[in-house]
Amino acid sequence: MRVLVTGGAGYIGSHVVLALLEAGHEPVTLDNLSKGHEEAVLGGKFIQADITDSGTVQQILDREGIEAVIHLAADSLVGESMIHPGKYFRTNIYGGLTLLEAMRACGVPYLVFSSTAAVYGEPKEIPIPEDHPAVPTNPYGFSKLTVEQMMAWYERAHGLRYISLRYFNAAGSEPEGRIGEDHNPETHLIPVVLQTALGLRREVELFGTDYPTPDGTCIRDYIHVMDLAEAHVLALKALAEGAPSEIYNLGNGQGYSNREVIEAARRVTGREIPVRPAPRRSGDPAVLVASSARIQQELGWRPRYPELERIIETAWRWFLAHPRGFRKD
Ligand SMILES: NC(=O)c1ccc[n+]([C@@H]2O[C@H](COP(=O)([O-])OP(=O)(O)OC[C@H]3O[C@@H](n4cnc5c(N)ncnc54)[C@H](O)[C@@H]3O)[C@@H](O)[C@H]2O)c1
Repeated sequence: MRVLVTGGAGYIGSHVVLALLEAGHEPVTLDNLSKGHEEAVLGGKFIQADITDSGTVQQILDREGIEAVIHLAADSLVGESMIHPGKYFRTNIYGGLTLLEAMRACGVPYLVFSSTAAVYGEPKEIPIPEDHPAVPTNPYGFSKLTVEQMMAWYERAHGLRYISLRYFNAAGSEPEGRIGEDHNPETHLIPVVLQTALGLRREVELFGTDYPTPDGTCIRDYIHVMDLAEAHVLALKALAEGAPSEIYNLGNGQGYSNREVIEAARRVTGREIPVRPAPRRSGDPAVLVASSARIQQELGWRPRYPELERIIETAWRWFLAHPRGFRKD
């Protein structure tokens, strides 16, 4: 299929592009490079454009003969969304609407959407199933939930079919280490830990050491970015074969505390990783772990890299080869 990948120059998007290429699809990447890197796009066409530019988005769908869309382009910093909610409503909600309208106008029938564990808010049940109440506690989560709801109305009115993938914590790199995580600012634990191992940061700040967890630090569910990417390929295939619209969690089903991640990184890298306890960040739930039973049962998805050390090892390969990320080494 010819697939438009919005945000395809970003961390997860570039791995999705790679998985599409490996599965024999033809990806076309649309990215405004606000956060992404053109060098991360390992194949297919690259178009620099903004998802909120309706004329251009529609033109691309038409001109490129797009048959399906994978929509990853978004602003995705929870803390920033608390300070600048409008930015999130514009990129994520208005950007989502622009895309939906363009798809309707051009008759593109299938959409795979990057959603997030942040739609759940404070979890009442662990592991979190998809039918857990969705009560986001920040504008970022709200913006993603809103797009999910818009997709449902577009299905009802216009017959769009969609799969929304609620990712937990993406981590790791494709096994050859050609592409990897390069965010600025970097807020994700594993890259921060590995940058500290490389000496690019002095220490890892441990945000909160008094959570009601066995070692007092937050527990998260890390999913390898290639496993995540693979799920998009499966979702496309399912939609093309007539599967109904659906929402799926994507995680490993196993949680690791921040301290466990740091210990695992020390074992993988063999380096010192200094740590400094810091106050909790507001809005960080103590534990976020997914139940991914639904996507395993319905789409046959299986993680190939479920072990934390293996996830960190692949990320480490990327950081060793590109200590300062794209362009900067
Ligand atoms: N990284 C995670 O653990 C995680 C977890 C849950 C959900 N997500 C979601 O997955 C998606 C990808 O995340 P990521 O970590 O790869 O982030 P990323 O910032 O690396 O990628 C997002 C890409 O979208 C592009 N973009 C942003 N605004 C755009 C616009 N207006 N027009 C066109 N392109 C635009 C950026 O340049 C970037 O390349 C996002 O939608 C994010 O909300 C990520």
